[in-house]
Amino acid sequence: MFNNTTINRFQDLDTPFYYYDMEVLRQTLDACREASAKHGFHVHYAMKANFNPRVLDMIQSFGFGADCVSGNEVRAAIEHGFGKDKVVFAGVGKSDKEINFALDADIFCFNVESVQELEIINELAGAKGKKANVAIRINPNVDAHTHHFITTGLDENKFGINIWQLPDVATALRKCENLKFLGIHFHIGSQITDLEVYKSLCTRINEMQDWFEDHGFPVKVLNTGGGLGVDYYSPNGNIADFESYFQVFKSFLNVKPGQEVHFELGRALVAQSASLISRVLYVKNGKKKNFLILDAGMTELIRPMLYQAYHLIENLSRRAEVRGLRSEAEKQASDLTPHTTELKYDVVGPICESTDCFQKDVDLPESFRGDLIAVRTAGAYGEVMASGYNLRDHVQSVYSEGVA
Ligand code: LLP
Repeated sequence: MFNNTTINRFQDLDTPFYYYDMEVLRQTLDACREASAKHGFHVHYAMKANFNPRVLDMIQSFGFGADCVSGNEVRAAIEHGFGKDKVVFAGVGKSDKEINFALDADIFCFNVESVQELEIINELAGAKGKKANVAIRINPNVDAHTHHFITTGLDENKFGINIWQLPDVATALRKCENLKFLGIHFHIGSQITDLEVYKSLCTRINEMQDWFEDHGFPVKVLNTGGGLGVDYYSPNGNIADFESYFQVFKSFLNVKPGQEVHFELGRALVAQSASLISRVLYVKNGKKKNFLILDAGMTELIRPMLYQAYHLIENLSRRAEVRGLRSEAEKQASDLTPHTTELKYDVVGPICESTDCFQKDVDLPESFRGDLIAVRTAGAYGEVMASGYNLRDHVQSVYSEGVA
């Protein structure tokens, strides 16, 4: 991701910024498309992971659909050329305004998360003389074995309709004449690295589709959600193993003739394509701790603070080959003689919160003011979760194919 030319280019840029390696994105999308096409599976990109316009354009160009969770995401998907027939709208709290917008846009399907929501969509569709396609999001009570903050498929989570409520769903569907039942939808959590979890999900989907068919509702779409995890630890930025992931569904999902299998992948498509690039503002060598104070913090990337998420941190300026690239004058000016000593640092941001810490006790080469620091694997739930807290500037984006 970072060759010397790239790092040299960074020297002239203001930090912090997200650096998008569009080639990594392309390779990831290619791998996913190839692995899913083999089985005739449909992939909708979960836009919430990253709706950077350049990212959306590239994902759209690969023919994926869009999984949206707000009216604005539906709008953005359509503006970026995702076909309406490939746009799904999920979310536990869709407002009337958003539902109306999606109805007007004639999207493919609403993933519905409560009986009450079914009734509201029915009413709003009726007022427009339309019929809305719906899939029922079922909470399967399957443990995703991921961080509890990003687990969604357990009874205690707010998402989806619990299995014991399905008789009410059937009653509502029978009476809602402005709805067309398409199928069933699941999503059990994010950053799932244990594929065994998906086998349990398949078992549950098979039971649920039988339930609907037994109650007179033919299931056309099996939407398994997303959640495929990525490798946050390796410096190689490994692309997710789409082959093995789709193979689990191929092997364990009971797909009947005429049925479509849908996926909603977010993280696995975009995470490896970006890093947050920042500079060391100050180095504080304390008695107990050394602190590297960066010019990026929780306002640019909140995952470590919110989910105790790990992101690999790299000092780009202290790579041996980069040090070799510096001119003598530059070295003297900034007193940057090559250092090889490894120290432990708490890598923190500038925000006035004690939780504004990317990671504690990171082993890094001795680091100095002005060094470029990369926080890796930040393409998913990074830029999109940035905030303006402390009235910070909105974080910039830089692309491998030229500065936007
Ligand atoms: N489908 C639904 C219904 C979802 O709620 C999500 C993510 C996805 C698909 C996509 O999941 P993915 O393939 O990206 O795991 N901000 C958290 C992750 C929140 C995930 C929310 N839902 C993080 O930074 O880890």
